[in-house]
Amino acid sequence: MSHSEANRVRIFDTTLRDGEQSPGASMTLEEKLQIASTLEAMRVDVIEAGFAIASNGDFECVNQIARQVQNSTVCSLARAALGDIDRAGEALKPANSGRIHTFIATSPLHMKYKLQMEPEAVIDAIHKSVSHARGLIDDVEWSAEDATRTEIDFLCRAVETAIKAGATTINLPDTVGYATPEEYAAMFRTVTERVPDADKAIFSTHCHNDLGLAVANSLAGVAGGARQIECTINGIGERAGNAAMEEVVMALKTRGDIMPYHTRIVSEEIMRTSRLVSTVTGFTVQNNKAIVGANAFAHESGIHQDGMLKNAETYEIMTPESVGVTKSVLTMGKHSGRHAFADKLKDLGYELGDNAFQECFRRFKELGDRKKNIYDEDIVALVDDEVATWSNRFQVISLNTYSSSNGEAVANLTMAIDGDKKKTVTYGSGPVDAAFNAIKDLIDMEPHLQLFQVHAVTHGTDAQAECTVRLEEGGRTVNGQGAHEDTVTAAARAYVSAVNKLLVKREKQAPGAVAAQEVSTTRGIIRAACGPPFYLSVSLAENLKVLMSSKR
Ligand code: KIV
Ligand code: ZN
Repeated sequence: MSHSEANRVRIFDTTLRDGEQSPGASMTLEEKLQIASTLEAMRVDVIEAGFAIASNGDFECVNQIARQVQNSTVCSLARAALGDIDRAGEALKPANSGRIHTFIATSPLHMKYKLQMEPEAVIDAIHKSVSHARGLIDDVEWSAEDATRTEIDFLCRAVETAIKAGATTINLPDTVGYATPEEYAAMFRTVTERVPDADKAIFSTHCHNDLGLAVANSLAGVAGGARQIECTINGIGERAGNAAMEEVVMALKTRGDIMPYHTRIVSEEIMRTSRLVSTVTGFTVQNNKAIVGANAFAHESGIHQDGMLKNAETYEIMTPESVGVTKSVLTMGKHSGRHAFADKLKDLGYELGDNAFQECFRRFKELGDRKKNIYDEDIVALVDDEVATWSNRFQVISLNTYSSSNGEAVANLTMAIDGDKKKTVTYGSGPVDAAFNAIKDLIDMEPHLQLFQVHAVTHGTDAQAECTVRLEEGGRTVNGQGAHEDTVTAAARAYVSAVNKLLVKREKQAPGAVAAQEVSTTRGIIRAACGPPFYLSVSLAENLKVLMSSKR
């Protein structure tokens, strides 16, 4: 494999923008900051942190990530509209290295029905939006939305215009996941051959997975001349998702013999990041998912196991360690002291404040009394649960449930609400239902439960349960997590964690706090931009008008 700069493929991660457009995948600011920090540790080249114009919340996320991240470029999406681009530039001000990513659709279908613009007006908007962005920042990416259904002559004109206006990266997305690898590679070859000064820009892939071809198409795009891949952790994203970062990275790493390209990703961080994204979004990774699925490195059949024992390469094309999969480590017992626990936390990458540490240590001791073997995974689940909940408005203090196979279940719950203890006893069709009813009774809210899922942190019937609860209220969606050796308590903690997040969202979106409440997610804003009668398409048209008239 050649490690020349010419063969380096930049990894542009859009988990926090396109990934968050998966229905239900909404993340809090703190969760986004945590994900951005793991992406930086992986040495991702560009982190697309959000869509600054979409809401004050999105702006704040881009801005805070720009402040925090030092070693990756931080990027904000912006439509081809002055207001969008200015907002993106503003959010990126604190970035060590920032990029504005502006886009407009170029396919006949999108121009006619979505934008309701003539092709000439689109070319004009490209020129004005990219020049405007270059006036704010040196690093400007331009995307031809729906590039793969765009007439090639028009696509070349659009790309030429963007490069002339100063775009440093040109992205040609397969927005609807329609292309095949041969077509996608050919598109890059044609455009880079035909467009004057194409070598002044880095070309980029951005593939959706509607036909299950996103990773294959991304790799084909690289063969066709692209040197940036846009992708997401676990392949999350709009509809069937985006190209999965772990898959493109490991394909390039494993098949350097026929794909002489390299990334600078620290692949050993893949598993940790995959788990974090899955926990935060509540999107479980399927067992047979490539690279990060629970079975990706499991060998069940006798023949395979025999081969593996003789030489792991018989059935393993990459090592589990190369993607950060480690064996479950039996770590500590109930007799381990404070010092050993602090050392273990450090090993696992946690730095806790005094109060959080004391609380985690107390819970670790309790867990040790109930559970014989404590694994690293147990400690990770316990600390994540504690860190997520300990400073919140609502907290579960104790929960006792009684259930039987032939009658209603009862939950007896004590919670702290703004520091005051409150108690209730409620009923339900089962213990989880009774516990959730008890919480609703005390908090006086009726959020809509969209998802409840449970998984065991380790093996064995004494394993801790890790629960995810997705709640929706007034168009706001949040995911809460909770872990405990008692499954119903884990469920209740997850429910309360989601409620706390809902409250934060409510406060942030209270009148006066947020201007664009109707479009609090990037998905909202893109959908809004697609439907002509909607408020945002009006503002898009107005912005474009401003943009187009500003140079006249
Ligand atoms: O899929 C797509 O076309 C996009 C653009 C906004 C880059 O996400
Ligand atoms: Zn996309």
